[in-house]
Amino acid sequence: MNKRDSEALASRLASQGYLLTDSEQSADIILLNTCSVRDNAEQKALNKMRMLIGRSKLQERKPLFGFLGCMAQAHGEQLLEEIPGLQLVLGTHRSHKLPEYLEALLTDREKKIADCGGMEAPPVFLKDHIVPEKNSNSPLVSAFVNIMHGCDQYCTYCIVPETRGKEFSRPIADIVDECSSLAKNGVKEVTLLGQIVTSYGKRLIRPSPEGLSPFVQLLEEVEKAEGIERIRFTSPHPKGYGMDLVEAYGRLNKLCQSAHIPLQSGSNRILKAMRRGYTAERFLEILAQLRAVQPSIGVVTDIIVGFPGETEEDFQETINVVREARFDSAFIFKYSPRKYTVAAEMPDQVPMEMREERHARLMALVNEIARESYQQKIGTIQEVLVEGVSRRNVNRLQGRSRCNKIVLFEGPSAWVGTIRKFRIVRAGQYSLYGEPIETEKNK
Ligand code: 5AD
Ligand code: SF4
Repeated sequence: MNKRDSEALASRLASQGYLLTDSEQSADIILLNTCSVRDNAEQKALNKMRMLIGRSKLQERKPLFGFLGCMAQAHGEQLLEEIPGLQLVLGTHRSHKLPEYLEALLTDREKKIADCGGMEAPPVFLKDHIVPEKNSNSPLVSAFVNIMHGCDQYCTYCIVPETRGKEFSRPIADIVDECSSLAKNGVKEVTLLGQIVTSYGKRLIRPSPEGLSPFVQLLEEVEKAEGIERIRFTSPHPKGYGMDLVEAYGRLNKLCQSAHIPLQSGSNRILKAMRRGYTAERFLEILAQLRAVQPSIGVVTDIIVGFPGETEEDFQETINVVREARFDSAFIFKYSPRKYTVAAEMPDQVPMEMREERHARLMALVNEIARESYQQKIGTIQEVLVEGVSRRNVNRLQGRSRCNKIVLFEGPSAWVGTIRKFRIVRAGQYSLYGEPIETEKNK
């Protein structure tokens, strides 16, 4: 989501005459878009800013420095006092003011601005995308599209409702327009984005007469966008996986066979303390329903270890659910107490060494199951959207299968932006290696 916000702002600035640079050394303006979800993300951003400002003191070039995003929102004006040399702190509902503020700050280099207001009103949804020139060797193939901002769920560990504010959704027509115009620029795949996409449109749109939730109605409309061939979304909430969404996986041809469904914990006691609103049994039932509709669906999850009060028995329940769920991969996080959250005040905070030890144990299990799931793909045929040159090996191209696995292969750069079929011949820990197969579509 931060990547998308950064792209939109960079594109907005570029349209106003600013030039984007890959190098910090040559920048006149350096803006860090920050995350607050765990303390280490905040510390990374603070250290990076201090390092950049420190380095600029030894240089002739004195860039303008600013913080954007959730950490800016959570800490506000006090960042200007804590970090001398910082000129701008811009909150999550104020990013559309960036061009105006930059102009003021560039005119008066002594001036400082902190604006973290507007949290009660809907944020301005920026539609700007960075579209490379025609014939570029890295065309825009896959794009993120915001469908909503904010979250009303208030899970007890999570700072997001504080930093992103209440849920606000965009109208369906606006979203479909953005997808269609991306398709005209060569985009084949859209990932619909929001903090809790399954709550999309809940105050804006009624369920349809057939009982389809607003989110599924949106999926149906994006499915009709000409030129878009694949649809993904992130992040959903398990409580949003009604049968309407499960069945959409069978009905909508463009909806990819992949899902990122956050489990957070396998212990019902901890899920309740997290205020998640489902049980481990219900979570496993959703997986079974999805796999009944799409047996090859790739499922990824998020898990927090060491939530306050988590005992070894609770942790074992998470291990059991992970064994049963057989995720293709999982993001595992050590619980990080966050300001403004209920869990930060709970007794029985789990010592850091224990969080680290559980993190390592769970990671080993997740990696073992993932290895097996990748190995099982050997010999299968996968449809791949070719995204570009592999980051690790410039002689290879890479793309993603419909089940969201990275597939690497050799081929001409003209394949970038096309959808092609590959036979999987080898599997790495988190990637597959393919050989092209001759089909009508590939020719
Ligand atoms: N500590 C650790 N992980 C967290 N997440 C959210 N808040 C916290 C926290 N306080 C994780 C959740 C969420 C992911 C984006 O970050 O697993 O799904
Ligand atoms: Fe945070 Fe997601 Fe819970 Fe919302 S649903 S409070 S974003 S973890």
